[in-house]
Amino acid sequence: MMKPKVYVTRQIPDRGLEILKDTCDLEVWEKEIPPPKEILQDKVRGKDGLLCLLTDSVDQTLMDAAGAQLKVISNYAVGYDNIDIQAATERKILVCNTPGVLTETTADLAFALLMTVARRIAEGVEYVKAGNWKTWGPKLLLGYDVHGATLGIIGMGKIGQAMAQRALGFKMDIIYYDPKHRPEVDTSVGARMCDTLDEVLAKADFISLHVPLTKETTHLIDAEALKKMKTSAILINTARGQVIDTNALIKALRYHEIAGAALDVTDPEPLPPDHQLLRLSNCIVVPHIGSASIATRTKMAVIAAENLIAGLKGERPKFIVNPEVLTNN
Ligand code: GLV
Ligand code: GLV
Repeated sequence: MMKPKVYVTRQIPDRGLEILKDTCDLEVWEKEIPPPKEILQDKVRGKDGLLCLLTDSVDQTLMDAAGAQLKVISNYAVGYDNIDIQAATERKILVCNTPGVLTETTADLAFALLMTVARRIAEGVEYVKAGNWKTWGPKLLLGYDVHGATLGIIGMGKIGQAMAQRALGFKMDIIYYDPKHRPEVDTSVGARMCDTLDEVLAKADFISLHVPLTKETTHLIDAEALKKMKTSAILINTARGQVIDTNALIKALRYHEIAGAALDVTDPEPLPPDHQLLRLSNCIVVPHIGSASIATRTKMAVIAAENLIAGLKGERPKFIVNPEVLTNN
């Protein structure tokens, strides 16, 4: 039997590629920078499966360039805002993602960012490296206490709840707002649901974003939302850059309408080196590394590969974004 043809848009951890090599006719984009749109269109032509990253925009044009045989798009991420799901469903293409395995790892980073800005760790590192450390200073690099502060979680899915568990260990008060008003939230963490986003914005000392990017969550944190926050508030984003209006955030940070921000994701992404966000001392940016632990990225590679193979074999992949493709035949 002919092996299914698969395109992988980047070098993912080896375990994933090895699984694919066994069963597929595999082609992999070898460079560090994602394949440009035109090249990707050319590469997917005639492929049965596509394993892609959040940096690849998978739209109708790309699906049509691939051809009618394209059966599965397996995203190496939990978020899938880079894929036109409706277009895929219309074409009976399965879309898969990698939820679950990156929950704790991403919450680890979100909490690390929270602490980094609260206690001005990045500034402290720079201060010492620059040779400015002359003595113990009573007023040197004073930050905000994390313990006892109020954490506002926006988006109480798996990662939001994992963030709440961490906050519990720091004796924080936890409040949250979930745009989907999910009933299945684990209340054992002692988090209190707020009916409105405004209430969380007004009460929280730290606000951490854990919503997927959708039409409804695009610019959820805009100029108005930022004005509702405390001037001592710190905003953490490990979700998607577009959830925040970047220009509004720059203004809020520059005029100290909020105290600080820590961003793992930005809009645009990547940020150009001369971007205004990078010139603000009350903002830190890391390069979208929420799930970037060795163990988790390996698990994601295995899941993405297994999802793809299951879909190509006509079996039910473990994680499907548009299961209606399987039921509405
Ligand atoms: C990372 O941002 C992901 O969606 O997996
Ligand atoms: C700090 O190191 C202190 O002793 O107060």
